[in-house]
Amino acid sequence: MRTIFERGAAEAADGIFPACDVPAKGAAAWLGAGLVRSKPPRIPNTSETTVVRHYTRLCKLNYGVDDGIYPLGSCTMKYNPKVNEDTAALPGFTDAHPGADERYVQGSLELLYELARLLQGIAGLPAVTLQPVAGAHGELTGMFLFRKYFESRGETRRTRILLPDSAHGTNPASAAVAGFSVTEIPSNARGTVDLEALRAQLNDTVAGIMLTVPNTLGIFEENILEVTRAVHEAGGLCYFDGANLNSFIGRARPGDMGADVFHFNLHKTLSTPHGGGGPGAGAVAVSKPLVDFLPVPRVVKRRDRFALDWDCPKSIGSVHSFFGNVLVAIKAYTYVLQLGDEGLRAVSDNAVLNANYLQERLKRTYVLPYDRLCKHEFVLTSEGLAKGVTTLDVAKRLIDYGIHPPTVYFPLIVHEALMIEPTETESRETLDRFAEILERIAAEAREHPELLHDAPTRAPVRRLDQTTAARNPVFTFPFEAHPA
Ligand SMILES: Cc1ncc(COP(=O)(O)O)c(C=O)c1O
Repeated sequence: MRTIFERGAAEAADGIFPACDVPAKGAAAWLGAGLVRSKPPRIPNTSETTVVRHYTRLCKLNYGVDDGIYPLGSCTMKYNPKVNEDTAALPGFTDAHPGADERYVQGSLELLYELARLLQGIAGLPAVTLQPVAGAHGELTGMFLFRKYFESRGETRRTRILLPDSAHGTNPASAAVAGFSVTEIPSNARGTVDLEALRAQLNDTVAGIMLTVPNTLGIFEENILEVTRAVHEAGGLCYFDGANLNSFIGRARPGDMGADVFHFNLHKTLSTPHGGGGPGAGAVAVSKPLVDFLPVPRVVKRRDRFALDWDCPKSIGSVHSFFGNVLVAIKAYTYVLQLGDEGLRAVSDNAVLNANYLQERLKRTYVLPYDRLCKHEFVLTSEGLAKGVTTLDVAKRLIDYGIHPPTVYFPLIVHEALMIEPTETESRETLDRFAEILERIAAEAREHPELLHDAPTRAPVRRLDQTTAARNPVFTFPFEAHPA
């Protein structure tokens, strides 16, 4: 007799899955004809052991923050404390149904309320929604808030968003999806917003500006007060993309700098896992004039009870089902409480220290186009390293040394960009080793460029055809390739 571990598709229908509780007859009336299958699904005919081995093999091919330095600029991979997993796995949270009556989920609501309050304090802004589930989703929410605000004032001429050329790539996309047109503002030689170019664009067609703070060069807008004042004086609003908050958390507050909307990437700054498409959390903080437009439902406190407030007539509506990714919020809350004020300040201190330490060392070998104090990240170029050697070659060679490459070819304003963020939690030894390897690769580029052109040679796969991989990805379980 075969055990349950050996069962395959032949037995699957009666052995592994519970009996179908949807009446077969009349299902179309129940579900709608479009949702009813005409044929049974194709389920891999394989045993549990094979499936487990398949995923175990795949996870061994993976590289994550727990394997080593992951210096992706902009899309930063952060330390993921394991205690976060413990708190988020508490059955009181995981067993709660999102549709449960408020009376039975007081703990979850309290946590969401308290996290929002902590984020308000960090941002220096009076209200926060936790509903958006990604940074770009927070941006889109912010753009909807801008629109609703101007509609409520009858200022429908304000249809333009100003965007520095050093902004994160999702910013123009979010503005466009929300129905705005985008006007690019060039950077000056210091890598910050060209104030004259900004002023030249300001008029009553401008809804506002979207600033990535610090920008994608890792540089803080030193004239940020002038920028926000100029936009406000022209009747516009100021959006701050706060995905890079780790560079100033606990040291400065966006609300004090003139932000009207500020999004957090909890999955970057506040240590919740990130990558592979989520799940994330792009909490959004807003200034007073925008509070009434925030998404519903809002978690509120009435005397000593927590409740969901749907009665917000000016709201933009919901931007996600229920309350966003609650388990991600639990992890972020755990991290903030673990660190406290002092710990949060240490995050930004170390983020800036680590980035500048690496920048100063690596600029001796690679060209640093904007040579000035950076915040949490910096951008080098491989241009001029050696004839015929590209940034892609450098990145692929890093894989041969067992290191995940940094972000490449972004931001677009630097040719052959290598955008490096060491993150605040890497030790000096790790940074030194990373720098040493990049220096060794620079020497190889001059002396043995073929090592770079051929890389990676020590990875499970060689150079991939990235276009085909993106256009024709294979997501199915390869049961033919790995028979039981
Ligand atoms: C500066 C900046 N803004 C926005 C985003 C978009 O965030 P998400 O990938 O969660 O949509 C990122 C990505 O990490 C980012 O680095």
